[in-house]
Amino acid sequence: MQAIQLHELKKTYGTVEALKGLTLNVPHSCLYGLLGPNGAGKTTTLRIITTLLAPDSGDVKVGGFDALTQSRSVRRALGYVAQEVAIDKILTGRELLELQGDLYHLRSSVRDGRIEGFIDRLQMSSWIDRRSGTYSGGMRRRLDLAAGLLHMPKILVLDEPTVGLDIESRSVIWELLRELKSQGTTVLLSSHYLEEVEALADRMAIIDNGQVIAEGSPQELKHDLGGDRVILRVREFSNQVEAEKVRKLLTGLDGIHNVIVNRAQGFSLNLIVDSDNRLSDLRRELEKANFNIFSIAQSRPSLDDVYLQATGRTLMDAELEVSSKRDKKLEMKKSMR
Ligand SMILES: Nc1ncnc2c1ncn2[C@@H]1O[C@H](COP(=O)(O)OP(=O)(O)O)[C@@H](O)[C@H]1O
Ligand SMILES: [Mg+2]
Repeated sequence: MQAIQLHELKKTYGTVEALKGLTLNVPHSCLYGLLGPNGAGKTTTLRIITTLLAPDSGDVKVGGFDALTQSRSVRRALGYVAQEVAIDKILTGRELLELQGDLYHLRSSVRDGRIEGFIDRLQMSSWIDRRSGTYSGGMRRRLDLAAGLLHMPKILVLDEPTVGLDIESRSVIWELLRELKSQGTTVLLSSHYLEEVEALADRMAIIDNGQVIAEGSPQELKHDLGGDRVILRVREFSNQVEAEKVRKLLTGLDGIHNVIVNRAQGFSLNLIVDSDNRLSDLRRELEKANFNIFSIAQSRPSLDDVYLQATGRTLMDAELEVSSKRDKKLEMKKSMR
């Protein structure tokens, strides 16, 4: 049995199809990463898992319970650290944790023992007795994490736990997540940081446009690309037409596949080569066709390459697309006023 099983989840907000039949299985005691750009549907998925949101259709099982009909049991099994939380600013961090413990009906000796433990593990002692209104983003996140763990859930769900945080907070949080995993907790986290998923996840899913488009361990996904990554620029590249010509030329060659024009990087080309030393072949072919190489480099593939192969664009491009759509919508709203 899996810790979390999602089957064919669909969710629409008005006319926006946020989830289009999302299927995902998270094994027990696994640190699982959900990677995708802004707007991919990560928060929607996590809110459905945590019973805060009902899907339009599909099945949700968490810790063996059905999220739709056994939501109380699901909530007991889960800890959730949301993307944004509004916390009371007057109380101190410790007082907020005590309140949280009382919500879970913990005996005060148990509660206080656990609070001390988290203060220590998340390095909060120097500020935990200050009013929480004075906390930085990183301090608030650590406090949220402690609050989400006070009832010792078997499954911890975190929505973009380290977005915009200072390096110290990030590494303290990463350390705790690794420790929880080694103690058998299942951790599901969403992120749009490749490095975060790469550094933490045993398994991962890439989610794009409300669907899972790739799934496996980061190593498997990179291995499945079938070789090394080459990034190439030709001197004449200033437009897509030239880049397309080179793409056509390379696509026809043996041992070369997934040739993609990377628009965000000034129409450079990304491709996968199946053996260690293809650069001299590539040089020769390009010279034969009178293309003048500006730069060429071969390296081991990264998760960014996995994402690029799966979606045809880099994660950064996807983010830019979303923010430019959002800016356009805002402008339209302004001009309608
Ligand atoms: N409450 C809402 N009302 C309308 N649209 C929403 C709402 N929440 C999310 N969306 C839209 O659903 C899509 C998925 O959003 P979300 O799950 O927040 O993605 P992510 O967390 O990956 O950024 C986006 O297009 C987003 O704009
Ligand atoms: Mg989100």
